[in-house]
Amino acid sequence: MSQQDNFKDIISHCKEYGYVFPSSEIYDGLAAVYDYGPNGVELKNNIKNYWWKAMVHVNENVVGIDSAIFMNPKIWKASGHVDNFNDPLIDNKDSKKRYRADVLIEDHVAKYEAKIAKDVEKGKNRFGDQFDVEQFLATNPNVLRNQAKIDEINQRFKICMDNEDLAGIKALIVDLEIADPESGSKNWTDVRQFNLMFSTQMSSVADDAGKLFLRPETAQGIFVNFLNVQKTSRQKVPFGIAQIGKAFRNEIVARQFIFRMKEFEQMEMQFFVRPGTEMEWYEHWKEKRINWHKSLGFDANNYRFHDHIKLAHYANAAADIEFNFPFGFKEVEGIHSRTDFDLGRHEEHSGKKLRYFDPELNESYVPYVVETSIGLDRMFLLVLSSSYQVEQLEQDGKTSERVVLKIPSFLAPVQLAILPLVKRDGLAEKAMAIFEDLKYHFNCQYDEKDAIGRRYRRQDAIGTPYCITIDHDSLNDDSLTVRYRDSMEQKRIKISELVDEMKKELSVENILKQL
Ligand code: GAP
Repeated sequence: MSQQDNFKDIISHCKEYGYVFPSSEIYDGLAAVYDYGPNGVELKNNIKNYWWKAMVHVNENVVGIDSAIFMNPKIWKASGHVDNFNDPLIDNKDSKKRYRADVLIEDHVAKYEAKIAKDVEKGKNRFGDQFDVEQFLATNPNVLRNQAKIDEINQRFKICMDNEDLAGIKALIVDLEIADPESGSKNWTDVRQFNLMFSTQMSSVADDAGKLFLRPETAQGIFVNFLNVQKTSRQKVPFGIAQIGKAFRNEIVARQFIFRMKEFEQMEMQFFVRPGTEMEWYEHWKEKRINWHKSLGFDANNYRFHDHIKLAHYANAAADIEFNFPFGFKEVEGIHSRTDFDLGRHEEHSGKKLRYFDPELNESYVPYVVETSIGLDRMFLLVLSSSYQVEQLEQDGKTSERVVLKIPSFLAPVQLAILPLVKRDGLAEKAMAIFEDLKYHFNCQYDEKDAIGRRYRRQDAIGTPYCITIDHDSLNDDSLTVRYRDSMEQKRIKISELVDEMKKELSVENILKQL
């Protein structure tokens, strides 16, 4: 099955099993806006919870806030978003389709990267353990030729972006003979800048005085609260402030399902440090964050760092954590060293001091900031696309297929399914009594409809890690069967031991300790 087909299957699975629905569907939807269904909201909450625990609860020097979406519009002038938060757009004159010029170039570069990856794969298959990837990358003529092209394009692109040379970007697209991915046409307009912020009105009078912006990042709510939080939480630099919340961007080229949305959620943390120590902290948070990702147990080869060539207007170093989504390696999280840009600009524009008095140095300064910023919806897509598996099963000489979401158990929307083997003979009543007890400890589902095999498949499809089956023996020996989603193995345990056993299975404590 091609990656594209697999991705289509994941999208329909999300809809069929209550994970993600197109927004406003009965009115034909709204481009790049999605709603989360009953299972989706549980998974989303569990991801948020895991992030919050790992960032706020485990680190004594990180505290949380929840700032408002509406903010004084001067904030966006100070932060540079009014003037700089633009995407370079280009239209195809024949197809009338609009694209981000930088994305067209990045996708072109990705083709050379894919060629290199394919050559490496071939080498591995041919030479097995003898294959030295580093040496191959440094010497193979095909790889060197493709890498030289990548470097040349990236260098030209960086110069254009640094100088805001829109004509240069257009020339690069023309020189590389980049065609409209849909129509194949190379008939392009000029490139122009487009601001990504949505605006709205606060007062009833439609003039510029009441104009507000929907925040394009949660970070500014943290910056403007820096002193409030530092003083009330009695934190000393270095310390961090974390926040989870909605952000809005008028993404013109919205695509790839929930990967690029107009309304999405971010989980951000700004870590305030002494000037001059930011690179140390930048490396520290890069390592912490990649460990957090890898703790989920998905294939480690699907993650990589990508250092930014073009730095945002506020950063002196930046890297993305990229994940191998069904449509290739793409950013899921950014780690940015933002210098003292934001606090400095807010001091300037508000006229209020945003300084920290460092008792050890006996001086005041504007702290530098290292930020970690992850998109919750992208993380959701990462979890779902890594968990989705179609397995061929052999049983009693018959072949069957099961679709299973192998979501890490502590993130699964439904943790336990309580299933009486049959409805009669008092099994349903017994199972319901167990469900009534368990629902205070776990997110449980009770299901008595259809044959047990079909119910297992239904639970596999939504990713329930443990099915609890109550059978006739349960009536006599107060035991039941736990069926494990991934191995499909079954284990008999005492009803009295069930809660403790499941708490152990679903605990995140040991995972958090290893981060
Ligand atoms: N405060 C820094 C900041 O906002 P960013 O790289 O623009 O940095 C951070 O965004 C993360 O937010 C990205 O890594 C991505 O996961 C998520 N994100 C950004 N734009 C998004 C969009 N349109 N839809 C979904 N997620 C998005």
